[in-house]
Amino acid sequence: MTQPRHVLAIDQGTTSTRAIVFDDAAGPVATAQCEFEQHYPDLGWVEHDAEDIWRDTVKVASEAIARSGVAPEAIAGIGITNQRETVVVWERDGGRPIHQAVVWQDRRTARLCADLKGEGAEDEVRARTGLLIDPYFSATKLAWILDTVSGARERAERGELAFGTIDSFLLWRLTGGQVHATDVTNAGRTLLYNIREQRWDEELCRLFRVPMQMLPQVHDNAHVFGRTSKALFGAEIPLAGVAGDQQAALFGQACFEAGMAKSTYGTGCFMLLNTGTEALASESRLLTTPAYRLNGKMTYALEGSIFVAGAAVKWLRDGIGVIAHASETDGMATQVPDNHGVYMVPAFVGLGAPHWDPDARGAIFGLTLGATQAHLARAALEAVAYQTTDLARAMACDGGEGLAKLRVDGGMAANDWLCQFLADMLQVPVERPVHLETTALGAAFHAGLATGVWPDLAALSATWTQGRLFTPHMGEAARGRLIAGWQDAVQRTLSR
Ligand code: G3P
Repeated sequence: MTQPRHVLAIDQGTTSTRAIVFDDAAGPVATAQCEFEQHYPDLGWVEHDAEDIWRDTVKVASEAIARSGVAPEAIAGIGITNQRETVVVWERDGGRPIHQAVVWQDRRTARLCADLKGEGAEDEVRARTGLLIDPYFSATKLAWILDTVSGARERAERGELAFGTIDSFLLWRLTGGQVHATDVTNAGRTLLYNIREQRWDEELCRLFRVPMQMLPQVHDNAHVFGRTSKALFGAEIPLAGVAGDQQAALFGQACFEAGMAKSTYGTGCFMLLNTGTEALASESRLLTTPAYRLNGKMTYALEGSIFVAGAAVKWLRDGIGVIAHASETDGMATQVPDNHGVYMVPAFVGLGAPHWDPDARGAIFGLTLGATQAHLARAALEAVAYQTTDLARAMACDGGEGLAKLRVDGGMAANDWLCQFLADMLQVPVERPVHLETTALGAAFHAGLATGVWPDLAALSATWTQGRLFTPHMGEAARGRLIAGWQDAVQRTLSR
């Protein structure tokens, strides 16, 4: 048989699960996708049913393979990429989750985080994990499940329960319970992993009250973690790459040199700057995070995390019915000549970097009787660009030099108006690749590296193709006015 040249990527995101088969030129051959239900059981709480996620994963992977026309045994490997931080706890015997998955956006542990900060734990946590103490990350959510589900803590201590982010849960299920593992990028978002020493940290586990016997094994991103059970797809396909979705997008954008940055516009917006082998500590409340580890060698990134980007557009559609389809915002934003003084601060689940205010809530400012639906749509899109600009400023403070350019991807990056507005706000060129599915591609790259589809990073870089370049052209006075309006709106939204 000839060497398999196709790779399947599974991209398990916050609102949808998709699978894409790529060929060895990094071109998408076939795609399948489905959205799944979000659960909001209480104010600020967000949950997913891990069984929905599992069912959808098998469904979309099977569909993508069937549509590609590639025989399952001719798939070199599967790469998994996932919404990060979301917590699943399941029984080792049988694999049943003991609670709904507690999603990264969930704020239920805000009080616990405030208490830990009050006890002065944050500096040490930051030094070891590169993160801050915030409900966003996994550890306090995991402790919450152990404290809430009857008998869970005792069972975890007896080794009966397993913890994982979504990648671990899928690896477990895809291998029929043979593998309990994760990769450095997902481990690095738990608040339990020491990113400098690259190991689970006993003291952090004690601080967050997490029994270490629950934790998965941590591997490089390009690594054969196991094989799929034959019954699933008709062949035992190697599970050969795992990466958290934002790090996968950085990899899929071929940002392999220190100084290269990308921003991904999905549910949230996450901007990552490759800082090379140095775990740069941020002075601006950005995160220091593993970008990828290959052959045991770690590359780090600085990350700015914005919790709401596309989710604001989804809210315009599902929450208040201002639009019927997300794509309508594109046209609406350009129907009006300017924002009419309307600003939306999309703090629906608190604010992430650089403010880290879990108690802030979304707000719209500047409404007059002249404000229309189009202004609301425009405000939602503009907010994405303003927040990215705040992150770029913070990165420039930390990294020394400002950004030279920014690569963008994710669904919202298809919007030309938004990309142009972003270039105008950032005052650097914005590069959009031909294929916007760089998150899935990053996972495919890892799996392809581990299975010999691609020999090295240079081969991956060679596949990156620019689709369109947006260069800044707004005057400084106009830009300054817009940004001042945004800063004022943010200040009025902060909870303290
Ligand atoms: O940290 C959360 C992030 O991984 C979610 O990504 O693409 O689902 O917005 P996304």
